[in-house]
Amino acid sequence: MLILGIETSCDETAAAVVRHDGEVLSDVVHSQIAVHEPFGGVVPELASRNHLTNLRPVLTQALSDADLGLNQIDAIAVTCRPGLSGALLVGIEVAKGLAWSLQVPVVGVDHLFGHLMAAFLRFPNSPPSSPPSLPFVALLASGGHTAIYRVDGLSTRQVLELGATRDDAAGEAFDKVAKLLGLGYPGGPIIDRLAASGDGSVIALSRPMPQRNTLDFSFSGLKTNVRRWVEQHGRPSDDQRLRDLCAAFQSRVVEVLTKKTIHAALREGVSTIVVGGGVAANHGLRGALGTATAAAGLRLLVPEMRACTDNAAMIGFAGALGLLAEPGDQTAVTMSPHTLLSTVTRKGRGRRGEPTRPRTAPKHNRARTRPED
Ligand code: KG4
Ligand code: ZN
Repeated sequence: MLILGIETSCDETAAAVVRHDGEVLSDVVHSQIAVHEPFGGVVPELASRNHLTNLRPVLTQALSDADLGLNQIDAIAVTCRPGLSGALLVGIEVAKGLAWSLQVPVVGVDHLFGHLMAAFLRFPNSPPSSPPSLPFVALLASGGHTAIYRVDGLSTRQVLELGATRDDAAGEAFDKVAKLLGLGYPGGPIIDRLAASGDGSVIALSRPMPQRNTLDFSFSGLKTNVRRWVEQHGRPSDDQRLRDLCAAFQSRVVEVLTKKTIHAALREGVSTIVVGGGVAANHGLRGALGTATAAAGLRLLVPEMRACTDNAAMIGFAGALGLLAEPGDQTAVTMSPHTLLSTVTRKGRGRRGEPTRPRTAPKHNRARTRPED
């Protein structure tokens, strides 16, 4: 089966053609960073408008890279939740229109589930590796979400949240710290680059929620810690000092993500760890997880760099899983700002195992240009 994936949940317009087994035939991502950069964050209205103009050329490119015509596509998968409502709607309506005209099924995909499935993708030059074996523990760390899951099967119903951030997502913390250091947007890749030549032990920052008795995270205190440091010492004008500060911040985030993910795998008795989301592209995190999993005798599966950040290949593959499980119906895809994945551990939302109301999609929270951020 050949699936055309479409992703427009936030600030990337993406289309890809994948086979149902995860082989990627094409993968096109048009980033809107230049549009949102002056505002220091994603502006929802601008995101929707840009998806409208970008989606057609991106789709055309994805088909042409795969050397396929539209009539060779067997199904369409589109991100339908969570995300910016207007942005999601652009992708969903285009997907439904295409599916109707081609008379093929269309399936809605949960963006977070897509990130968890990115480790299954095989790109043309990927080194051969066997897919993750079930059950596994997954760390999802992106700009809007940070959580650890136990994954027992390849459907959203078989994903159980074991812990999650109680405030900022890890990527959001990177973005906010970069903003307060005047480094630009998005902050993750910039801090990652600077941290590579910094010394994380020179500047002492607090450990964010290190307790071993919870798999929850909290990153806003660390962000405030950096802000206080800057208030006290001023923005580092010296290049090396800036690199050291970035390294200190990044090492604190990496340390807690790594320790809790390993702890979760050992506690759950699983032998495989999967990571996903934009922060999984972080060199420090990839290195630390590699070392820690090897020491603990666990298998680590990290998606290729391009599959960590938002893309449509992961959506196409996750859509194929959904379609194979239950054949699609093009009238059934509806937009929602809420994830389908469990959110049972979130602070203030009931204890684990108790029914909870859906949580407001953090992607909305991320799309802010508040001056105090
Ligand atoms: O998964 P993603 O593309 O979008 C969401 O679903 O949120 O993640 C974007 C986030 C941003 O916060 C960005 O700063 C962060 O991922 N990010 C990184 C790196 N590359 C992207 N954070 C740390 N290190 C990186 N190399
Ligand atoms: Zn994402």
